[in-house]
Amino acid sequence: MGFTVRNAPTMAVVDVIRVKGGARLAGDVSVVGAKNSALKLMAAALLATGRSVLTNVPRITDIAIMAEVLRRLGCEVEQDEDRVTIDVPERLGTEADYDLVRRLRASICVLGPLLARCGHVRVAHPGGDAIGSRGLDMHVEGLRRMGADISGEHGFVIATAPKLHGATIWLDFPSVGATENLLMAAVLANGRTEIDNAAREPEIVDICRMLTDMGADISGAGSSRLVIEGVPELRPVSHRTVGDRIVAGTWAFAAAMTRGDVTVHGIDPSFLEIALDKVATAGGQVDTTPDSFRVRMADRPRAVDVVTLPFPGFATDLLPMAVGLSSVSEGSSLITENIFDGRFMFINEMSRLGADIRTDGHHAVVRGVERLSGAPVTATDIRAGAGLAIAGLCADGVTEIRHVHHIDRGYPSFESDLRGLGVEVERAVAPPDQFDF
Ligand code: EPU
Repeated sequence: MGFTVRNAPTMAVVDVIRVKGGARLAGDVSVVGAKNSALKLMAAALLATGRSVLTNVPRITDIAIMAEVLRRLGCEVEQDEDRVTIDVPERLGTEADYDLVRRLRASICVLGPLLARCGHVRVAHPGGDAIGSRGLDMHVEGLRRMGADISGEHGFVIATAPKLHGATIWLDFPSVGATENLLMAAVLANGRTEIDNAAREPEIVDICRMLTDMGADISGAGSSRLVIEGVPELRPVSHRTVGDRIVAGTWAFAAAMTRGDVTVHGIDPSFLEIALDKVATAGGQVDTTPDSFRVRMADRPRAVDVVTLPFPGFATDLLPMAVGLSSVSEGSSLITENIFDGRFMFINEMSRLGADIRTDGHHAVVRGVERLSGAPVTATDIRAGAGLAIAGLCADGVTEIRHVHHIDRGYPSFESDLRGLGVEVERAVAPPDQFDF
């Protein structure tokens, strides 16, 4: 068998955004539903034949890719504004191919529901990504305990289980994805499943709510022990997606870094307790209502240390924002990342903006500088992209963020939100990367 090696550069057009530094963010901004919930809610819809409706769904690329994953499984999916309607047929397809899975790692979350409904599934192995290796061992081991026969062949995870049964599963780490996959498999399994050391993120509580409305029997949502009594079948539902705490947290840090005054709507501030406490410790004034918060920062922020941990710890997805805040704070901060081995990939780009950062393993020491310096930078993942953009707000001149498609994957209205808060921002088309193979 022969391979053709093509090494001509692709001439893809590259979108960039440019932000002008120096603005003091002020005003109101609303967040819509969480990407990391909506994607899993779409997968959960597979568990019941018929039409489920999700609202408060963000209009972002990842949702469009997930819709395509479901279509290829035989569903009809429509998105209209913030509403996604999913018509699930009686007989579903059982394969999610590499073409889609490589573009959306989260499509691995169809593994549990498809196995539960169809007794067989082939999902492309998603591989690693820019923030780390991202294993699947806990997904696989948990499903095995529930009676699945699982193998890896030709880049696919292949699972078979004519009927899953309940099991007791201890997760080595409270993995969000493994908890969701096992939960979605357990709701239709025979008997009782216990997931110990389960993830406790608000997005897990959201999916538990939806599944319960569908007829599932789940207790312990939001605690580290989920108990699921399997039921024979579920029914479709309408469900409103929980607000996006990471987008909301991004605005909290942006407000603090720019010495601004921003009110964020559409979010329960208790999802961000530690993040908002860090902003307050840095000198910000934080006021909350049940579904909004306001951050005001009058002076230069003070350095704060941050340690990422599973919820309710400080979210790893807000690490780039914490690094940004530290970069312009008075003093030095120690930032520790405990979730992803590649999360510091973007630090070199932050250094291009004049940030003074040294990393050692999973620690970064950030020495605050008075002002950053605008430069072209490249986003390596969603959160790095947003973090670089808000760091650019504290820089002299213009910061150009390349590979902005990363930001588009997680922030439905990033530029218009920035504009609404007083930032001069534009999107432009840059020449293709010369060596972007
Ligand atoms: N892990 C394993 N084995 C497993 C499962 C996970 O080793 O079987 C490891 C991973 O390699 C990683 C750590 O455990 O080092 C955490 O992984 P987890 O399963 O908790 O994360 P995830 O489900 O892959 C979701 C979000 C991430 C978010 C993390 C942590 C989605 C689609 N993604 O990922 O969001 O950072 O939880 O909160 O829900 C983002 O939105 O930008 C993003 C990366």
